[in-house]
Amino acid sequence: MSSASHTTQDTLPHQLDDVEVARLRADFPILERRVNGAPLIYLDSGATSQTPTCVYEAEQHFYENFNSAVHRGAHSLAVEATDIFEQARSDLASFIGARQNEVIWTSNATEALNLITYSFGNASAGLGGEAARKFALGPGDEIVVTELEHHANLIPWQELALRTGATLKFIPVDEAGALRMGLAGSIITPATKVVAFTHVSNVLGTVTNVPALVALARSVGALTVLDGCQSVPHLPVDVKELDVDFMAFSGHKMLGPTGIGGLYGRGELLDAMPPFLTGGSMITSVTMEKAEYLPSPMRFEAGTQRISQAHGLATAVAYLREVGMERIAAWETQLGQRMLSGLASIPGVRVLGPTGGAQRIGTAPFVIEDVHPHDVGQFLDSRGVAVRVGHHCAQPLHRALGIVSSTRASTYLYNTTSDIDALLNAVSDVRGYFRVGK
Ligand SMILES: Cc1ncc(COP(=O)(O)O)c(C=O)c1O
Repeated sequence: MSSASHTTQDTLPHQLDDVEVARLRADFPILERRVNGAPLIYLDSGATSQTPTCVYEAEQHFYENFNSAVHRGAHSLAVEATDIFEQARSDLASFIGARQNEVIWTSNATEALNLITYSFGNASAGLGGEAARKFALGPGDEIVVTELEHHANLIPWQELALRTGATLKFIPVDEAGALRMGLAGSIITPATKVVAFTHVSNVLGTVTNVPALVALARSVGALTVLDGCQSVPHLPVDVKELDVDFMAFSGHKMLGPTGIGGLYGRGELLDAMPPFLTGGSMITSVTMEKAEYLPSPMRFEAGTQRISQAHGLATAVAYLREVGMERIAAWETQLGQRMLSGLASIPGVRVLGPTGGAQRIGTAPFVIEDVHPHDVGQFLDSRGVAVRVGHHCAQPLHRALGIVSSTRASTYLYNTTSDIDALLNAVSDVRGYFRVGK
């Protein structure tokens, strides 16, 4: 099985550089592709990352040797499959600083966030008894989100507010897209029961001040929910250090397969929360009238699970660990700065997001004067450059920035400085091609 370029961290140079990244790229055959006659320049990892061979080989190996249902059979295959599945959970948990029973498998971050809101909704409807009361919401209670949120961490809260009568509030951004942290202290009040916010904006790539929001939430006894979709793949993340109560993440954004993601929750909270989905594998006893539920994580994993995908994601995590999250973060920051300053120097290009000292991952959002982002995206694609265009599932943020849509280039550990230069060259030609600004 291939792993990160068949080397160990001891033999790698301290920082990632183009030479080292060229070696890593051999693990991602898709990066050899040509698109529209040009070499593929993949700058859309914020949407979905590419997958190293070791990840899909791990899934294939699972199907060839262990395929079986977990937590159900007494035969050898079922026992081995269960061990692989639980080992994957343990690997993922240690990657984010959690305990094994604190990671629940979901299809993706969207499902993880819906799991929380539906569980809170069930508690609000009186399910789960006394232990679940801390999750119950009703009229007079407040849920606080931010204007930065991806729709996946906004709409489930809107729906929960509608179902329970709670009030949804948000911390706004300023005209540059920075969270107005000065207002957070008055928006989070003793009526606040939950503060849900993104760790890294999927549009701007900016890193939220987690300690400040957690401190405010704690001061009023509110639960915290972190959307880790854009942080877990790119930064070292430790949930105990961050001190959040819940965190959602997606496997396909961190070199893993599609169809797998997860929810971290503090063990004592998960064991008290009413389940979202019910059915097989999550019970201790069932009568024709009622059922008793297992503790976390199985309490939240009704039905046959995503076994090969969990194994694939654990393999992706091993790969990330071997390369080193600190080095990945440093490399992407370097690429990000090259992108941001390069884009800002191109006439007619406006880079979005706060300038100055804001901490950002290697993501560059921008608009080009008089050219629609979809046209930008198509032109870049004609040069082999893959970026994301549109509202990136963050319509309220775009509205706050005074635009409808934008173009986003996002990097990962396999991008090189020449990828960035290819993007900058292509962007420089956009306005000429569309004959604007002459
Ligand atoms: C910040 C953020 N949250 C949530 C999501 C939703 O992730 P998924 O579609 O994998 O559920 C995304 C995906 O782009 C994201 O960037």
